Amino acid sequence: MKNLPKIELHHHIEGAAPPSFIRDLAKRKSVDISKVFDESGGYAFTDFWHFLQVYEAATSVLQTPQDYHDLTLAVLQAGAEHGVIYTESFISPDFCGGGDVDAWRDYLAAIEAAANTATRDFGAQMRCIVTPVRHFGPDKARASALCAAETVGEFVVGLGMGGDEKAGKPADFAYAFDMAREAGLHLTAHAGEWGGPASVRAVIDDLRVERVGHGVRAIEDPALVDDLAERGIVLEVCPGSNVALGVYQTWADHPISKLMERGVKVTVSTDDPPFFHTTMTAEYENLARHQDWGGSEFATVNAVAVDAAFCDAETKDALR
Ligand code: ADE
Ligand code: ZN
Repeated sequence: MKNLPKIELHHHIEGAAPPSFIRDLAKRKSVDISKVFDESGGYAFTDFWHFLQVYEAATSVLQTPQDYHDLTLAVLQAGAEHGVIYTESFISPDFCGGGDVDAWRDYLAAIEAAANTATRDFGAQMRCIVTPVRHFGPDKARASALCAAETVGEFVVGLGMGGDEKAGKPADFAYAFDMAREAGLHLTAHAGEWGGPASVRAVIDDLRVERVGHGVRAIEDPALVDDLAERGIVLEVCPGSNVALGVYQTWADHPISKLMERGVKVTVSTDDPPFFHTTMTAEYENLARHQDWGGSEFATVNAVAVDAAFCDAETKDALR
């Protein structure tokens, strides 16, 4: 399972930081982040909203382009050890230069240099999805979209939106998504994790995304499920994240197989692996154990992920 080549489309760079990486950086910079960790040294949070606070506290120690360089390299190496050959990572200008385009360019150059090293040394490729944070509001989203539009290219391939799905409504962010679309970026947004089917419909209708981050609660509306299947809208499903955060109580309860059976295009990702004590290997093993997945399901999600990846056609061909 570990060596099976894997494609990961939903992955937050800061959320992939090992606790030891954050702890070491905090020590070097004398930042107090003791509330971020539990007694065993893992990330400590009680629910999703607390998770977002802990995530942002941990991220506060990532202060320079060099920090993001080192993080990216460590994260891609860790992924490669689990067979991940291609990752699309969410990276937010809010954390990388505060939305300033010139500062963002500096962070991006450092991150891309690390990605190139990872490709050379571990055979792991990466692309960047620029990520507004929904609870930071539409103005900051617009600044992020401008950063994305100014740097679109082989490495920066998309605009995504994470954060608190209950903050504001997707239409508030339409300007940012329109700007990104016009600049040639691909689009995705988190929805259907904490919000129900209406939340998924809103990002499809108002932001015109090609993929939905999570999207799993679409299962509560059969008409929406049919619509997703018909229109070929791809879900970036993160089952381990959903179980760890309590969207579903157990792996057996997770609707990923039902969505697949109903013809929806699903992919598998980790979201924020050390926060949820997961890896791509663990995701695959749990799907095999609790949802009876075998070679054909893994081959299907991989093929769907390559088709739905935001990179160029040549890169996709090499991944097939
Ligand atoms: N940012 C990092 N992980 C997230 C998640 N699971 N949902 C929304 N925003 C996030
Ligand atoms: Zn996410």
